[in-house]
Amino acid sequence: MTSTHRCFQAVLLLALTMLLLAGILHMDVGLFIPLLRSQAEGPPIVNVMFLKTHKTASSTVLNILFRFAETHNLSVALPAGSSFHLGYPWLFLARYVEGSEPQGPQQRFNIMGNHLRFNLPEVQKVMPNDTFYFSIIRNPVFQLESAFTYYKDSVPAFRNAESLDAFLASPWTYYNQSVGLPNAFARNNMWFDLGFDNNARANDEGYVRARLADVERQFQLVLIAEHFDESMVLLRRALRWRLDDVVTFPLNSRSVRSVAPLTAVGRERAQRWCALDWQLYQHFNRSFWVRAHAELGPRLLRAEVARLRARRRELRERCLQDGTAKNQSQIADPQLRPFQSGQADILGYNLRQGLDEQTQRMCERMVTPELQYMARLYALQFPEKQPKRLAFLE
Ligand SMILES: *[C@@H]1O[C@H](CO)[C@@H](O)[C@H](O)[C@H]1NC(C)=O
Ligand SMILES: *[C@@H]1O[C@H](CO)[C@@H](O)[C@H](O)[C@H]1NC(C)=O
Ligand SMILES: *[C@@H]1O[C@H](CO)[C@@H](O)[C@H](O)[C@H]1NC(C)=O
Ligand SMILES: *[C@@H]1O[C@H](CO)[C@@H](O)[C@H](O)[C@H]1NC(C)=O
Ligand SMILES: *[C@@H]1O[C@H](CO)[C@@H](O)[C@H](O)[C@H]1NC(C)=O
Repeated sequence: MTSTHRCFQAVLLLALTMLLLAGILHMDVGLFIPLLRSQAEGPPIVNVMFLKTHKTASSTVLNILFRFAETHNLSVALPAGSSFHLGYPWLFLARYVEGSEPQGPQQRFNIMGNHLRFNLPEVQKVMPNDTFYFSIIRNPVFQLESAFTYYKDSVPAFRNAESLDAFLASPWTYYNQSVGLPNAFARNNMWFDLGFDNNARANDEGYVRARLADVERQFQLVLIAEHFDESMVLLRRALRWRLDDVVTFPLNSRSVRSVAPLTAVGRERAQRWCALDWQLYQHFNRSFWVRAHAELGPRLLRAEVARLRARRRELRERCLQDGTAKNQSQIADPQLRPFQSGQADILGYNLRQGLDEQTQRMCERMVTPELQYMARLYALQFPEKQPKRLAFLE
């Protein structure tokens, strides 16, 4: 063998080794970076404000916050006195919060998530200045349908309408704008919850653009109910919480019997009737996906969603009797029976029998309905105050 030949062999070997190494490195980088990217750095965020919009899966989200507050011994901005919400439908004021101090140094809370009509300057009086703000919105067509079923008997505009299709066929027959707040559920309710005028002109482009910019500025994240699991992945990442912190069973959901889907014509009319909400939804649905793909990419997003679902299945098996939601009448423990409203059967859960103490506590937190959970946190946080009275359990 000549020396040139040997030299050539050595070069070839070196090149092959380099190629192989590059391959391994490339693979490693490929495997490693997504893992790093899914694992945000820094300590978990503990100051969180959630604008709880209506009929948008927000009770399920609130359960996440209540659980986190309870297990981390965080303070919660709870409704004052015997109230169940933070002044809704009036614009939020700091004094609606139990323990807020109108005079003197203001008490700050870690977590805030009960229903309120958003009013940032007042929220800032009770929340720390490094608070993470987020909310959730839903396709307004389905949001309106849910509101109609739930508030049928209490909202003046809905009371005399035979069905939502009938309401939408001639809304001005039923909807009296001068009635004001009591009709807030009947039109652009998410726009209203954000603190804006739900009767504003939806074709005023400058106005709509300015309000959307307000939301962008005030909220670090806007979740989409139709993409709930992807929303949980993004939320967990933003807050740097553990997977189990964001695993939920749907709360405050309706039985199939209580859902009355709109006709195609009705859906189109709902989009026009709630044109402000429709523009809100289009805007944030778009930016949600841009963000999801920019932060995680489709592959990692799918993997994270799969991980969340697998864990939910596991916990459903472990926690729930028959693994399914139950009617009010089928729920044995009154503490686990959700509040009922309008023409909807609101579902809840029975826990599996014979769970060990620690599992029992974890599962119980996941299925405790919102009002009971709020009352429990209130009693823990304000033991000297009159406990919240849940009349529907009596
Ligand atoms: C929880 O917080 C309260 C006051 O915020 C404190 O008195 C109590 O000791 C804390 N409990 C635990 C278990 O950390
Ligand atoms: C935020 O609040 C902390 C403590 O209340 C204060 O020290 C800090 O200066 C505030 N930061 C800003 C940017 O206002
Ligand atoms: C609309 O509501 C206002 C205020 O409640 C009331 O004065 C008015 O009569 C109502 N209009 C109709 C058409 O019912
Ligand atoms: C929301 O965005 C997704 C992804 O772009 C899209 O598939 C979906 O149709 C959008 N929803 C609505 C109601 O526009
Ligand atoms: C709830 O009750 C209704 C009527 O009583 C029944 O049709 C429905 O299947 C029940 N739903 C569940 C989830 O048990």
